[in-house]
Amino acid sequence: MTVVPGLDSAFDQRLSDGLELVDQRLREVLRHDEPFIAGASRHLLDAGGKRFRPLLTLLVSELGTGCNERVIDAAAGVELTHLASLYHDDVMDEATLRRGVTAANVVYDNSTAILIGDLLFGRASQLVAGLGAEAVRIQADTFVRLCAGQIEDDRQAPEGQDPMAYYLRVLEDKTGSLISLAARYGGIFSGLPATTIERVVRYGELLGMVFQLSDDLIDITSDQEESGKKAGTDLREGVTTLPVLYVRSSADPNDARLQQLLSRPISDPAELDEALGLLRAHKAMQQARDHTMSVANQAADLLADLPDGDAVQALRALPISVAERTV
Ligand code: IPE
Ligand code: IPE
Ligand code: MG
Ligand code: MG
Ligand code: MG
Repeated sequence: MTVVPGLDSAFDQRLSDGLELVDQRLREVLRHDEPFIAGASRHLLDAGGKRFRPLLTLLVSELGTGCNERVIDAAAGVELTHLASLYHDDVMDEATLRRGVTAANVVYDNSTAILIGDLLFGRASQLVAGLGAEAVRIQADTFVRLCAGQIEDDRQAPEGQDPMAYYLRVLEDKTGSLISLAARYGGIFSGLPATTIERVVRYGELLGMVFQLSDDLIDITSDQEESGKKAGTDLREGVTTLPVLYVRSSADPNDARLQQLLSRPISDPAELDEALGLLRAHKAMQQARDHTMSVANQAADLLADLPDGDAVQALRALPISVAERTV
């Protein structure tokens, strides 16, 4: 696996080995005596996924003393928290496809998907409990923020609030919070000094925003083979994203039809196709890409004065490659 192109191969191998240990840990933790519960808990784990958050924990740990058992447990705890949020997210978004397989809410039902999400969060807490009270507290704080962000994601900006500011704050809460925790755990369990940890926490928040901004673009541009998810889910559910906000605020009369389509959730498949076609060809996509890249550069710049090395180089390159990702 090449994490970031151009990395030293020994460094790359260390990260791959670390990710393999995280996967072993995840499989151990998700054992359950009752086969139905074991199968439903492993449904999304076994389906794949990018393991972006554990990778970040491992990468940040390379700024300090590197991988160890606590780093692995922390990385697995973050991935479990992420998995829990995916089960819940697919219920909220009425998704049918996740990680290239039928979503758990369809294979099972909404109640089972919600309860498996809760169970996974419990498993994450059990694992993180072995890392001490402070690790549990920051995981709990993170999950509160993630859930608050998901609740707000499901609602329009309240009257009188700037929709753009609202949207960006929701991104930071629903996605930046957990990606930042991944970075923070990497710092804590590899013995980084407090000032560097503060830096990687902020870096993680911005990286998480870049991750969600590009996810929102992929929802418009993707083909399902590549992403393992259905394109157009956000438009169908009426979830506001950056290009949609740009189109809504446009004064160009040529945008009237698209503005009309984007004024409410689009349940009709023909209208959804029409909206996706118009949006893909619209300059709002480039504007959104430019904004994403500017946040990516801010994240990279936060690490500008850390002593140079493989880990710093990889962490500086990461936000840019996340901004440009297509899966
Ligand atoms: C999906 O996360 C949810 C978001 C926060 C956008 P990922 O894109 O990391 O999903 P997996 O883990 O690779 O399936
Ligand atoms: C989900 O955002 C963010 C989470 C906290 C899980 P999305 O709803 O855009 O994630 P996908 O596109 O379904 O993976
Ligand atoms: Mg979703
Ligand atoms: Mg969602
Ligand atoms: Mg999405």
